[in-house]
Amino acid sequence: MSTAVLDEAAPAPTPEVIESFTVTLIVRRYNPEVDEQPKWVDYDVEMFATDRILDALHKIKWEQDGSLTFRRSCAHGICGSDAMRINGRNRLACKTLIKDLDISKPIYVEAIKGLPLEKDLIVDMDPFFESFREVQPFLIPSSKPGAGKERIQSVADRARFDDTTKCILCAACTSSCPIFWTDGQYFGPAAIVNAHRFIFDSRDDAAKVRLDILNDKEGVWRCRTTFNCTDACPRGIQVTQAIAEVKQAIMRGKP
Ligand code: SF4
Ligand code: F3S
Ligand code: FES
Repeated sequence: MSTAVLDEAAPAPTPEVIESFTVTLIVRRYNPEVDEQPKWVDYDVEMFATDRILDALHKIKWEQDGSLTFRRSCAHGICGSDAMRINGRNRLACKTLIKDLDISKPIYVEAIKGLPLEKDLIVDMDPFFESFREVQPFLIPSSKPGAGKERIQSVADRARFDDTTKCILCAACTSSCPIFWTDGQYFGPAAIVNAHRFIFDSRDDAAKVRLDILNDKEGVWRCRTTFNCTDACPRGIQVTQAIAEVKQAIMRGKP
């Protein structure tokens, strides 16, 4: 056997050169200890197209200004802690790629709206979680399964609330809702989504309680089907549809 072919190794492919470029982020900063009002601050950062806005914020924090304050944890769209307004639209910073934005212009980054601003990109989430807790987002069965038994559910029954199990409580929906901006008492779409998850669960027996809670003047009837919530949801949940299903359940008096 000739070894000529084997010896003449093919030239190694030239690695593709991935160019970095400068991106300008304009971040709405606010330090309650020194600022009377929030102010916009520009930062130029060297980024790659495949970087995310969260990477850009980290670069600013680690290389330019350690006082920049924002929440993040998983960095992979799971924990829901880094919802913010990016170019005027609610998104998760860790799921927003630089290449998906128009980098010929500055990228504007600010805190989500409708919740009290605490510092820079951080808002007080307490009102959001209060509404979430009010709808009793946990399984309330009226009986125990027999010893060693599970609560059986058909595939069709499970599918009934599959979409709303995907919520990561990021608040992107609630803080994009114009009704919530003007009336902070409104339960908001996230609380209704999480009520929906249990109202339509065949193993649960407290749907009536939750439907009564959401039949309140600050409940589902405040929704004007604006669809901002559905557009904002990073999990692709059909939020407005879920709200409509809860409204219909209230009219029927049962799920
Ligand atoms: Fe976030 Fe979507 Fe849940 Fe709203 S419904 S809190 S946008 S994951
Ligand atoms: Fe608000 Fe969504 Fe209804 S944006 S008005 S909760 S459809
Ligand atoms: Fe967890 Fe973005 S950091 S969802």
